[in-house]
Amino acid sequence: MTTSRPAPFSAFTTPQFWDDPHISAQMLARHLDPDEQLASRPRSFIDGSVAWLIPTLNLTAGSRVLDLGCGPGLYAHRLAGRGIEVLGIDASRRSVEYARTMADAEALPAHFRHGDYLTDDLGDGHHAALLIYEDYCALPPDRRALLLARTRSALRDGGRFVFDVAGAGRFSGITESSVTADQLMDGFWSDRPYTGTHERWTYPDLRLVLDRYTIQDGRQARQFWNWMHCLTAEAVAAELAAAGFEVSAVVGDVTGRPRDPNGDAFAVIARRR
Ligand SMILES: C[S@@+](CC[C@H](N)C(=O)[O-])C[C@H]1O[C@@H](n2cnc3c(N)ncnc32)[C@H](O)[C@@H]1O
Repeated sequence: MTTSRPAPFSAFTTPQFWDDPHISAQMLARHLDPDEQLASRPRSFIDGSVAWLIPTLNLTAGSRVLDLGCGPGLYAHRLAGRGIEVLGIDASRRSVEYARTMADAEALPAHFRHGDYLTDDLGDGHHAALLIYEDYCALPPDRRALLLARTRSALRDGGRFVFDVAGAGRFSGITESSVTADQLMDGFWSDRPYTGTHERWTYPDLRLVLDRYTIQDGRQARQFWNWMHCLTAEAVAAELAAAGFEVSAVVGDVTGRPRDPNGDAFAVIARRR
């Protein structure tokens, strides 16, 4: 299969990918595997992250946290276990249902909504907001600006926004490729027999990567476009400043590890001005 190089950010299918009935079941299984890294980070990392977030954001029982793209609630449940009131929003119905069931079973102060954080209500007056696992980099610049504006409105004055980012250093290790296979990724994409094509394009001027999956299952052909925009801390700071945030700190990841300027990722703590 030969196709021409798509224009940068020329399609956006992220919410459809996460909410597809078959794919969301595959992703939930991966979220819940404590050692798997595809959907969520390993449990030991998440435990370390929550242990860092609570003091760093001065969270105490009754603090209110907005978890954007909360998945099945791995961070939200841990925060709520400390009495922190969490509102989780996620595009995957399946993950939200799991998150809600677990929170209800433990009577945790965590609430979950199925929705799109780019369009749906995020509430207001939150002390802090989280966007964890580099989802910022899956968004085109105009959607990043929209998300920052919406997150700012959902925070109280001085509220903090923590998110992690694929750094510019990540881009240099990525090369273009194309592969077509029956049952590509062992049935991940459909519960019907299918042929899948995975094309990867790189856009060096932008440090942008596109992974496009085309799935033909006899009934229909579907495409999923996954973008990863590798960003510098300076570029992220400029986007935050334009949206009414200031950078409080840049660290290596959301466990607070010191930043390696040549590393392939970093995390930002931004404060609502
Ligand atoms: C890589 S997972 C990370 C989940 C969670 N933050 C974690 O680290 O365990 C990304 C999550 O963001 C959600 N998501 C992606 N785009 C979204 C959108 N526009 N609105 C709401 N949720 C979204 C997906 O459904 C998925 O659960």
